[in-house]
Amino acid sequence: MLTKIYQLDENNIDMKFIEEAANVIRRGGTVVFPTETVYGIGANAIDANAVSAIFTAKGRPSDNPLIIHISCIDMLLYSIGEPLSEKAEMLIKKFWPGPLTLIFKKSSGIPLEVTAGLDTVAVRMPDNKIALKLIEKSGVPIAAPSANLSGKPSPTSAFHVINDLEGRVDTILCGKDSRIGVESTVLDISGDVPTILRPGGVTLEQLKQVLGEVYIDPGLTDNMTVPKSPGMKYSHYAPSAPMQIIVGEADRVEKKIQQLIDENRLLHKKIGILATEETKNKYKNCTVISMGSRENTKEIASNIFKALREFDEKKVDIIFAEAVDEKDMGLAVMNRMRKAAGFHMIEV
Ligand code: TXA
Ligand code: MG
Repeated sequence: MLTKIYQLDENNIDMKFIEEAANVIRRGGTVVFPTETVYGIGANAIDANAVSAIFTAKGRPSDNPLIIHISCIDMLLYSIGEPLSEKAEMLIKKFWPGPLTLIFKKSSGIPLEVTAGLDTVAVRMPDNKIALKLIEKSGVPIAAPSANLSGKPSPTSAFHVINDLEGRVDTILCGKDSRIGVESTVLDISGDVPTILRPGGVTLEQLKQVLGEVYIDPGLTDNMTVPKSPGMKYSHYAPSAPMQIIVGEADRVEKKIQQLIDENRLLHKKIGILATEETKNKYKNCTVISMGSRENTKEIASNIFKALREFDEKKVDIIFAEAVDEKDMGLAVMNRMRKAAGFHMIEV
């Protein structure tokens, strides 16, 4: 299929391109658009055939439900089959538009193709003007997963999207690099205590400030428990080379990584190291990519997917990664890193 690719400026949006893309959505096609978290591949959420085209374009398993993107509260009320709870109202007021996805009972207006057969639906309002205008002009909620080929790191730049999806979607709207760099936090508020099903752009600390107690789905950290969010069970975000994460006190991690470099050099392997600003100059005889400063988990989040893709470009044979602190955005970063590494961790 021929993919139309348009460059847009979020601060001076050319509405001609938005109108054209909105027409594509209305007639059942697929449009990639930027959001503050990662790029998304969208289709009309109330058209089951259009939604199926997303799964085909990505090569995504059909038992993995999609997030519905909305531009106004009317679209939320159309999509959900329950009254808005007090908790939901508080969260919406504080975090929308923004990187928080909420799980609700679904309305009959949302086809089961979107929710992969579940009776709940995930909804968020993205904080990006191009995305919001596209949804508004389409006049329908837009179902959109991250715009990567299934299994690959999520795309945080138009360049990543074009690499993965040119020829597989109708239209790509290119904007700037994604500001946040990891996907939205998925929060289930149906039980007594709200539960994070996927850590993301809104942190546990921020949610606790609004809600008090917040749980984290145990399936996220323990490879033996099935996660509640269907998407979290898939191997994901993976660079082509196998990856291992080294966890422990900083000095010991550095020593262990240098030892692993030396061992793998003897095997003639091209070695990639996922390091930080503080450590990037310490490793010898390898390809080092820095995620950012250890002190700045936001910066690390905004770089992590780009870094994972760079290892593919550099064609390394094996990757060793420094673990980061699981505070603030570090929780989401480590969740993505663990999955990229297929849960291969070395504790030192
Ligand atoms: O930031 C984001 O959320 C991006 C941008 C494009 O908005 N989207 C995104 O979509 O990451 P996707 O499809 O890659 O991830 C959606 C996640 C999956 O883990 C999926 O299992 C979960 O949300 N999810 C969707 N509907 C759900 C539901 N009803 N119950 C539990 N989890 C759900
Ligand atoms: Mg995804």
